[in-house]
Amino acid sequence: MPVPAEYVRSLHAYELRILLALERLMRRYQWVPLEVLRPATGFSESELSYRLGRLMAMDMVRYEKVPYEGYALVFNGYDTLALHTLTRRGTIQALGTLIGVGKESEVCEAMGLGPVALKFHRVGQRSFQSARLKRGYMPEATHCPWIFASSISAKMEYDALKTLHPAVSVPLPIDLNRHVLVMSFIPGVDLVRATLEEPEAALDDILKNIREAYRLGIVHGDLSEFNVMVDEGQCWLIDWPQWVETSHPNAGDLLARDIENILQYFKRKYGIEYAFDEALARVVE
Ligand SMILES: Nc1ncnc2c1ncn2[C@@H]1O[C@H](COP(=O)(O)OP(=O)(O)O)[C@@H](O)[C@H]1O
Ligand SMILES: [Mg+2]
Repeated sequence: MPVPAEYVRSLHAYELRILLALERLMRRYQWVPLEVLRPATGFSESELSYRLGRLMAMDMVRYEKVPYEGYALVFNGYDTLALHTLTRRGTIQALGTLIGVGKESEVCEAMGLGPVALKFHRVGQRSFQSARLKRGYMPEATHCPWIFASSISAKMEYDALKTLHPAVSVPLPIDLNRHVLVMSFIPGVDLVRATLEEPEAALDDILKNIREAYRLGIVHGDLSEFNVMVDEGQCWLIDWPQWVETSHPNAGDLLARDIENILQYFKRKYGIEYAFDEALARVVE
């Protein structure tokens, strides 16, 4: 779960100041030593220790003795900073329920000007290494921890949505802060959980959207029945952080895999035969 909303609401200004100081200092330290944190916040020893105690109880900050004594922000703390900023900007007013949990994200409903979806990117410690190798966009800074990698992932997705909307049927990107992307809420279900009345039309719609994205220079790179949503016959392509430019050396392979995944799914579930070559030609024509 993202950080509980009541924690964010009850946060004291001093606690916010500590979270911000940790975020800044974690560019230089994996674990921020107390003797570095204290001057950065300007608090007395007792104030700082009381506030750190509260932050640790809310699992926003962790303490480690090895390799040396220090404090680090963890996802609850990073979520809090992002939610605080998004609330201050007026982008969101209230946090709703969790609607999706994936390998590298959690998606929540929230209330902004209307219903919105918040996607908390979580490029975990385990996947961080491989993400850096596979995606090639991770900064090389030695102290760049996974929380920063997650904000890069959110930025990647935001950039894709900005380029694609509205030519491609994707959620409208509304705002971005740190690792949290705010987008329009799609009142539909994942394709994998839908039973379509007109599957041919849906397949057609998906291929048309893949083509539009391609024309705008973007290949999804992780498309499947799990990353398409349907809402009364309309299809939406979601989950874009791993997109590549059509000029990327792997773009051709990724595009072929995206199309193959979709065709396979419609064949398996609805018995629709659609030749791969024909589908590919439609997309890149
Ligand atoms: N804009 C949205 N509106 C409504 N539900 C969404 C939206 N974006 C994502 N979801 C839901 O959250 C799930 C996970 O989102 P997704 O972007 O696919 O992330 P992941 O990388 O974790 O798979 C989706 O399968 C979908 O059910
Ligand atoms: Mg997904």
